[in-house]
Amino acid sequence: MRTPIIAGNWKMNKTPAEAKALVSELKPLVKNASATVVVCVPAIDVYAVKEEIAGSNIHLGVQNVHFKESGAYTGELSAAMLKEAGVEYVIIGHSERRQYFGETDATVNLRTLAAVKAGLIPIICVGERKEEREAGYTDALVEYQTLIALNGLSEEEIKGVVIAYEPVWAIGTGLTATDEQANETIGVIRAAIERKYGKAVADAVRIQYGGSMNPKNVKGLMAQSEIDGGLIGGASLKAPDFSLVVNYDK
Ligand code: PGA
Repeated sequence: MRTPIIAGNWKMNKTPAEAKALVSELKPLVKNASATVVVCVPAIDVYAVKEEIAGSNIHLGVQNVHFKESGAYTGELSAAMLKEAGVEYVIIGHSERRQYFGETDATVNLRTLAAVKAGLIPIICVGERKEEREAGYTDALVEYQTLIALNGLSEEEIKGVVIAYEPVWAIGTGLTATDEQANETIGVIRAAIERKYGKAVADAVRIQYGGSMNPKNVKGLMAQSEIDGGLIGGASLKAPDFSLVVNYDK
């Protein structure tokens, strides 16, 4: 009953001209997708990509948003700016932002609230590091990250968010969580949402897997009952690869 959602996270790749070329190649390849297709591009690429995807089934996203409406926050972009520029989705709390840019669960929550208030759909990233999994903290950690991120949203608002479970040790490493590991941890996230917000909310939230998802492993992951899509880094930078992930059911 949940529509799968496959999102590309381009990270710090593609100039505006390269971005335009990539989506232009992608458009015909994904036009029959049954999943929602999103590309989360560097903010500087938004205009070029928006123009190129007009009239197609590709949706536009970015990779971060600031939590204040305006003011002295050099280098940041507000939710209203992104919304007005035609952005629909925004990745929040990616592990690279947590690791390199001091993102915390508290700022992830503030950014989520700001995004939702402006009418953007957040893709909230949660996930454990290798040593946390080995120490047995995965479930507690993802529950905590998820519930803090959602704090302050209404039940209706939570139904519309997307969560990406991305084990940090699987990102960009070629190591993927097994289908069962990914399904189990996503089930833990959904159960935590159900305990706090009820079954209708938990059943509506789309929860993606992310971390070295590619054309080879996408089918197995997507066959799992709890996995509603993917957040794709490396494999989203080439149109043929990304389209194979998007068309996992064809
Ligand atoms: P990857 O990145 O697919 O290159 O592992 C996923 C992500 O960081 O969102």
